[in-house]
Amino acid sequence: MKTYWSERARRITPYTAGEQPRDADMIKLNTNENPYPPSPLAIAAIEDFHMDKLRLYPNASSEVLRRAAAYVHGLSPEQVFCGNGSDEVLAIAFQAFFDDALSFCDISYSFYPVWAEMYGISYETVPLREDFTVPAEAFYGKKNIVLANPNAPTSLAQSRDEIEEIVRRASGVVIVDEAYVAFGAQTALPLIKKYDNLLVVRTFSKSHGLAGLRVGYAMGHPDLIAAMNCIKDSFNSYPVDALAQRAAAAALMDTSYAENIAKLIIHAREYTEGALKALGFQVLPAMANFVFAKPPAGISAQEMMQKLKKRHIYVRWFSGARVREYLRISIGTMRQMEQMAAVVREILETV
Ligand SMILES: Cc1ncc(COP(=O)(O)O)c(C=O)c1O
Repeated sequence: MKTYWSERARRITPYTAGEQPRDADMIKLNTNENPYPPSPLAIAAIEDFHMDKLRLYPNASSEVLRRAAAYVHGLSPEQVFCGNGSDEVLAIAFQAFFDDALSFCDISYSFYPVWAEMYGISYETVPLREDFTVPAEAFYGKKNIVLANPNAPTSLAQSRDEIEEIVRRASGVVIVDEAYVAFGAQTALPLIKKYDNLLVVRTFSKSHGLAGLRVGYAMGHPDLIAAMNCIKDSFNSYPVDALAQRAAAAALMDTSYAENIAKLIIHAREYTEGALKALGFQVLPAMANFVFAKPPAGISAQEMMQKLKKRHIYVRWFSGARVREYLRISIGTMRQMEQMAAVVREILETV
């Protein structure tokens, strides 16, 4: 068919999102969601919302949310941009800053090449080292760059000094995608005061237990934010709905809640790394809310993923050349991770 498809729709290979199964008693460790509910303040903000207000369009620039982000991060609201999930924020940033000469790691968030293709941005990929670390020097002097820090799906983080050197030497814009920064990595945020070519992107999906709300934001020089508004207002003037603006602002202000659930996840991650290593897995040093782990000899990562799925435990496996020997396992509650480790042990006993 494809009779009426545009050239663009024919050409593009879309991003494959992780499975969202409808399995009542599953342990869902496949899309890096937070196992904890959002802050009670965010829930109250939704419950207290006057629903009659839904007949009105929301504030086009997510003003309350931008003010909350500015307050929490010590910035001005002109340095903040909000969108419908960080996916949309990133897609808008790609259009706002990149015409050509974009560089990103060969193993990273697999949406980057999709946006580059979609918007006709020429790009090159920089190979990760054998141990999956980012060769920072390979980015020196490049024009436009997007880096996920910590990186996905490896969970490895770069230091702020390393990021600074890349930003300092770049002739275009550097986007640092900090979707997973809340789980122990260093943020590049302090650098935006020093560099007008740095954009830091965050999401509520991982750190704030609000993947279902679809909110993300970017921080950078007001001139970068102005370019993003220019693209937004040429695409969708009201990307963040009224409920989402209120709830995300409340969640952001509840910093102690977010810090507490991040601590629980870090604790469960440390347990998971130890448990998997004890079972013979190779586990990369994790800094995000997931681990990247290679099963011991005797069972492939794909087989392990399939066997876990039969037992209602969902983890993510990628078929790419360098990553197919690994599983990306999101960190849930301690109980979920203990159950996962127990089932992995049983599976290994049968191979
Ligand atoms: C590195 C990275 N960036 C951005 C996102 C998008 O997050 P969201 O659109 O839910 O804010 C993800 C989601 O998995 C991610 O892994």
